[in-house]
Amino acid sequence: MRRPVVMGNWKLNGSKAMVTELLNGLNAEVANIEGVDIVVAPPALYLDQAERLIKEGGNKLILGAQNTDIHNSGAFTGDVSPEMLKDLGASHIIIGHSERREYHEESDEFVAKKFAFLKENGLTPVLCIGESEAQNEAGETEAVCARQINAVIKTQGVEALRGAIIAYEPIWAIGTGKAATAEDAQRIHASIRALIAAESAEIAEQVIIQYGGSVKPENAASYFTQPDIDGALVGGASLQAAGFAAIAKAAADAKNA
Ligand code: PGA
Repeated sequence: MRRPVVMGNWKLNGSKAMVTELLNGLNAEVANIEGVDIVVAPPALYLDQAERLIKEGGNKLILGAQNTDIHNSGAFTGDVSPEMLKDLGASHIIIGHSERREYHEESDEFVAKKFAFLKENGLTPVLCIGESEAQNEAGETEAVCARQINAVIKTQGVEALRGAIIAYEPIWAIGTGKAATAEDAQRIHASIRALIAAESAEIAEQVIIQYGGSVKPENAASYFTQPDIDGALVGGASLQAAGFAAIAKAAADAKNA
């Protein structure tokens, strides 16, 4: 049985006051939720503050981050390395988010390099994949997801996916309120697992595949009751303590039922 993972991607949102309020709220809201890993990914500047608040709150939350560089130090102005993320207590690192693929022109190959470097540094990659609206309408969803995952499998072998997390996020569903139906998401998740199973059934069976894209407390349970949806990557709804905790609880309830 896979233990679900619900992760909050705060994106470019936060201030010292907001981080304190949200994490104190979350620490209280998640105190009694069992059977799910609950991860928060604040902006890198607030990781130190977040780590302290999570400790004070009993360490129930797991700290993550939204990006990494592919070097640990050196002349790379403006970047943040896996070693630094680790130093600040972050373990689950989002890579390949569609906003970075689009606004920073990150290619499948570059994202695969990030994946490899995170693994080398003992961190957990949260590999985002997913199709655009046009690709969806053209029936290319499975092919796009396969290409994005194969960039990792072909360079590092299927073994690299052991302990990693994949987040299937249809781009047209991100921040739009237009979520994929649970049935459509399940179909794509099953195809992703089948792609991995063709290389290794054992690794396919353990890999966490999250759904992301307009997940809210109201629709969360419909995803988590699907057999191949193992949690969620949550943007907008992760900025509200009660709502994000409700999503995490829905995952725990569905998977531990
Ligand atoms: P959303 O974002 O929940 O606001 O749609 C999801 C994401 O970008 O990870």
